[in-house]
Amino acid sequence: MRKDKPSKTARKVALNIVTLGAKPGMDNVLPPGIVEATSEMLVASGAVGANTIRWARYQRMVSVYEAFDWMMPGQFEAFGHRKAFFDRQAREGIGADATQVLILGAGYDTLAWRLAPEFAGVNFFEIDHPATACLKAKGIGQMGRRDNLHLIPEDLGKRKLVDVMESNDAWDPTAQTVIVAEGLLMYLPPEAVRDLFGQCAAITGTGSRMAFTYINRGGDGRPDVGRWTRLVLWILKVSGEPWLWSIRPEELGQFLDKNGWINTPDLVRASGQHGVELFGVATR
Ligand SMILES: C[S@@+](CC[C@H](N)C(=O)[O-])C[C@H]1O[C@@H](n2cnc3c(N)ncnc32)[C@H](O)[C@@H]1O
Repeated sequence: MRKDKPSKTARKVALNIVTLGAKPGMDNVLPPGIVEATSEMLVASGAVGANTIRWARYQRMVSVYEAFDWMMPGQFEAFGHRKAFFDRQAREGIGADATQVLILGAGYDTLAWRLAPEFAGVNFFEIDHPATACLKAKGIGQMGRRDNLHLIPEDLGKRKLVDVMESNDAWDPTAQTVIVAEGLLMYLPPEAVRDLFGQCAAITGTGSRMAFTYINRGGDGRPDVGRWTRLVLWILKVSGEPWLWSIRPEELGQFLDKNGWINTPDLVRASGQHGVELFGVATR
C-alpha cells in the first residue's frame, strides 16, 4: 500500500456507499445517515470535489457500478452489507457493555463519527496511515468534532499497535472493546495479520470482540475471488494496494485460537458473506 498518498481504496469504498444510496432497496440495508455523512466526509476532507459526489449520487452510476460487478459478483452491494454488519457489531458490543471501539484502517468510514454522540460514555478510536488520517481529521474538523472520538494517524507497519495504544492516555487496556478491521486484513502480509490479532488481544479486556472481513484462499495459496481472480489480483497489484492475506473459513477457528481469540460465528449471524468478502467475529 502506498503510504505517502491518501488511500485510493478507502475513497473507492466511500464513493461506493454514496452511489449505493441511489440504488432502490438499499435504504433497508444501509445504516441510517451513512450516505449523507460519507458524502460530507469525502468533500470536507478534500478527498473528492462536490461534483464527484453529485455524479456518484446519480442513479445511472448504479448501472455503471453494476456493469463492473462481473469481475467480483455482488461486490457493489456487498459494501453496503459490510457497513451494516460493522454498525451492528459496534452497537451489539456496546449493548453488551463495551466502553471502547477501535477502528483499524478507518479510511473515510463514518461509523465512529455517527455513533460517538449517541454513545457519549464510549471512547471511539480510529487509526489510519497519516496521509489518509490527516485528510479525515480535516473533514471531521469541518463536520463537527466529537469529544469521545480520537483520531490516530499512524502506520501500523512502522509502529506496533500495542505501543500506539499504550501511549494514548484515553485508551484503557483492561476495558471491554469492539475492534473493527473492515476491508483491511487482505492488504497486510500474513505475519502482520497474525501479529495484529495477537496485539489486539494484548490491548483489550475480557469480553472484547473483533469484527473483520477476509478473503477466501484458493488451492494455490492466494486469495480466491472466483473466475476472474488473476485479473482482480493483477489490478490490485498495479494500483499499488495488493491483497496479501487470505484464509479458508474452515481454518479460521484454529488461526484465531493460536492468536488469542475464539472464532464466534454465531455473532456473525446472517451476514456470513456478501460479494467476495467473508465476515468474521472473534471474541475473548
Ligand atoms: C480498503 S481501505 C478500507 C477503509 C475502511 N475500513 C472502509 O472499509 O471504509 C483500507 C484502509 O486501511 C488503511 N491501512 C492499510 N494499511 C495500513 C497500515 N499499515 N497502517 C494504518 N492504516 C492502514 C488504508 O490507508 C485504508 O484507509
